[in-house]
Amino acid sequence: MYRIALLPGDGIGPEVVNAAVKVLKIAGEKFNTEFEFKTALIGGSSYDKFKTPLTDETLDVCYSSDVVFLGAVGGPDWENLEHHLKPEAALLKLRKALGLFANLRPARVYNSMLENSSLKADVLKGTDVLILRELTGGIYFGEPRGYDDEKGFNTMIYTKEEVERIARKAFEFARQRNKRVASVDKANVLEVSQFWRKVVVEVRKDYPDVQLNHMYVDNAAMQIVRDPKQFDVILTSNLFGDILSDIAAMITGSLGMLPSASLGTKYALYEPVHGSAPDIAGKGIANPIAAISSAAMMLKYSFQMDKASEIIENSIENVLSKGYRTKDIFKEGDKLVTTEEMTNLIIEEFEKIVATQ
Ligand code: NAD
Ligand code: IPM
Ligand code: MN
Repeated sequence: MYRIALLPGDGIGPEVVNAAVKVLKIAGEKFNTEFEFKTALIGGSSYDKFKTPLTDETLDVCYSSDVVFLGAVGGPDWENLEHHLKPEAALLKLRKALGLFANLRPARVYNSMLENSSLKADVLKGTDVLILRELTGGIYFGEPRGYDDEKGFNTMIYTKEEVERIARKAFEFARQRNKRVASVDKANVLEVSQFWRKVVVEVRKDYPDVQLNHMYVDNAAMQIVRDPKQFDVILTSNLFGDILSDIAAMITGSLGMLPSASLGTKYALYEPVHGSAPDIAGKGIANPIAAISSAAMMLKYSFQMDKASEIIENSIENVLSKGYRTKDIFKEGDKLVTTEEMTNLIIEEFEKIVATQ
């Protein structure tokens, strides 16, 4: 039995979490695994009720679960709150509290989606990138931070230990993939990046079979859209990884397609890369694939249910290859479906594949 803490959050968060839970329930049934779900508030929905975006109760639900599954937080209603009351601050606090330093954001292109991206099909074909984003350090957490009437400031800081452990992860994931790491920094301007580079080079000595190159973040942003196939694992810091992963979302066709896993030494959290999408919230049209794919990552990385995870991925691929698309990935000639329809199609496909095994 696995205990899953569900934090639906705000905007489309609850809509896509709902979709992922439906898929997880079927996967549990078919693979004789029991999942126990406990739902708790986070973000704006928690603020509205408790005047804080993250209660101790929600933290306790997370600590006492095997994994956390999160939707999204934030929205226009809460954007003018003080920093520590913002929905986003809750997510950062949770990542830190659970020690989730390694954020995996894989971007690959399904063949049937080649024409649904704003990038050209021949640029995309065969792309399979893993962005490994440091998640509990850097400018997101550095002190001092703040603003007054005259100035605003943040601190970008990385310790040796923080860079070492994320670099090690990058080389280890690369070993299971195509053995190439691109470390992305801004070492031509920032001392913190110079330091990052030095530590990464040091760690690489334990992984001589993995190729390492360094790239400045401005160039990396351009290279991801120019020729994404050149990348295998992109190792980068918290802020650069945030930006580069939204860019990389266009490899998949939409931000609504990009899943993520956040891993530490004890806990794990799974969430779509996208936010609460206030512009489409409540309409039932959000793309549930990022969330469903994050659930597939959860089965693989936390529960060793590799087969079930692979079948979910194949189900998504098959549904897409039949031309079904939510609005964000729709083009003329495709079959437009809602969040719920897309979810049910993926479940039908899942059941069909399991039946033939
Ligand atoms: P966003 O990711 O919410 O949306 C960006 C664009 O992508 C929007 O046009 C949206 O409609 C579209 N989009 C995103 N997910 C989609 C999906 N599943 N299906 C279809 N279309 C989708 O980013 P934003 O608009 O910059 O931010 C909105 C709020 O979300 C902000 O408060 C922000 O802080 C928050 N946010 C939260 C997370 C998170 O919880 N992990 C991540 C990013 C942004
Ligand atoms: C993400 C989001 C978060 C981040 C925000 C909501 C705190 O943009 O997960 O990509 O910047 O890490
Ligand atoms: Mn982001």
